[in-house]
Amino acid sequence: MIKIGRVIVSLEMREVYLENRLLQVGSRAFDILELLIRAAGKTVTKDEILRHVWPNSVVEENNIHVQLSALRKIFGADSQVIRTISGRGYRLTIPVDASEPAGSHGAGTAGRAGAASRSSLPVCHAPLIGRDAAIADVARALKSTPIVTLLGSGGIGKTQLGIAVARSIAALSDREVCFITLASVENGQAAINLVADALGVERAAADIPLQSLVAAIQGRKLLVLLDNCEHVIESAAAICELLVQASADLRILATSREPLRTRDEKFYWVAPLDMPEAGAGSQAILACASVRMFLAQMHALNTVVDSDRGSLEMVATICRRLDGVPLALELAAARAAVFGIRKLMAELDDRFQSLTGGRRTAPPRQQTLAAALDWSYRLLGTTERVVLQRLGVFPARFSLEAACAVAACARLSCNEVTEAIVGLASKCFLMTTVDSKTKEYFLLETTREYALRKLHESDEADEVMSRRASYFAPAYEEPYARVFGAAALGGKRAVQAVASR
Ligand SMILES: Nc1ncnc2c1ncn2[C@@H]1O[C@H](COP(=O)(O)OP(=O)(O)O)[C@@H](O)[C@H]1O
Ligand SMILES: [Mg+2]
Repeated sequence: MIKIGRVIVSLEMREVYLENRLLQVGSRAFDILELLIRAAGKTVTKDEILRHVWPNSVVEENNIHVQLSALRKIFGADSQVIRTISGRGYRLTIPVDASEPAGSHGAGTAGRAGAASRSSLPVCHAPLIGRDAAIADVARALKSTPIVTLLGSGGIGKTQLGIAVARSIAALSDREVCFITLASVENGQAAINLVADALGVERAAADIPLQSLVAAIQGRKLLVLLDNCEHVIESAAAICELLVQASADLRILATSREPLRTRDEKFYWVAPLDMPEAGAGSQAILACASVRMFLAQMHALNTVVDSDRGSLEMVATICRRLDGVPLALELAAARAAVFGIRKLMAELDDRFQSLTGGRRTAPPRQQTLAAALDWSYRLLGTTERVVLQRLGVFPARFSLEAACAVAACARLSCNEVTEAIVGLASKCFLMTTVDSKTKEYFLLETTREYALRKLHESDEADEVMSRRASYFAPAYEEPYARVFGAAALGGKRAVQAVASR
């Protein structure tokens, strides 16, 4: 975290806070702020800004002025923090304090063995769009309620919202944050073991009794972000109840497709991103979060949508048709980045209507996402489809090497698998991690369930499971057997077990 006057900036998270509020800063304005911070008081020339912020396009200098005036607004009364050096460029006029802000992660928590710290929150490089009010509401609810559950269908943005809330609480208070995702656990005991590991409980035996979690939270001011509770809902509820009864200082933010139904729990339904109404004007269209997300996603893929009225209306229609569901928008934007929005519209017209059963008017969001996945899946190449379904057997992050070991076979070379992985990542079916030295991949829960279902429908489930088991044995035999249960269940039964969650 970096302090510039009253403003706190996280370069890593690309976030800016002013007096306990997360501010909405556009990505170009943030790029300029980052340049100024890194220059540490030296002048940053206009050419440097243009090269850094608009690397692939020729833009008017006026664009810099627009971004700078947005940045100066952030500093409010301190607007002289960014000084114009006439004819040359800009520089920061007050020193940047790169020390941790008061109340942030201290030595006492950092040294705690096994305890997930703030850094255990996944790094997120893209800003969360349209969730400022939700972040504030949930953070407020957590002040007075020990357990808040973020509810909603797959792909609606529960995990990302949870992370953003946890990050804002971590940045603005002395709470230690512990991020635990239950996505990969197969049963209640595995969930308890995972939570125990995350909280730093020493365990002598492979399985740990629920009660042993209590000692690990005493004397700690913790926020536990418990992600993906739905498939072990009863155990997740038991863990939450036990923990909040054992410590009044504890807060739990859970994400789930259904309520935990514990005592002292508040629900927060995660809404879709807001969508433009039919006939809305350009400004109104551009103000909607779903549109901003779609355009940001296209921008991240180095594509710009024309700003004429017709193009904006097409984007508005796409967002409405996808019900403002972020994962569906992400998949669609990846498609549009390659083939353009006109073709995307035509495809949505042709296929999406039949996929949603023709229910154009307000299809249930669950159905929208299933249709978006189906539609995007059909547009994949044959090899990409096969590789995707095979990768569904990874419950957590995996390396390219592991992917090749599991997805390649006599009929599919490692090179072909690698090519398919690159394709899947560019189409948003596969996510990549950016915080490790070696690149790793993972599937979002919803996408993974979809991939497993496809694997189950194929006749190669046994073969893929056995390649996975031999790749991970013996080094990973113990944790994988415990977490995934695959070695024990074997083949199709394991796929069924996971797919039917
Ligand atoms: N507000 C948002 N702005 C930008 N991207 C988002 C937003 N919400 C979700 N996403 C993206 O949509 C996808 C699905 O979100 P996620 O939080 O994993 O959904 P859920 O946990 O409900 O299944 C992710 O790739 C995420 O980065
Ligand atoms: Mg999730």
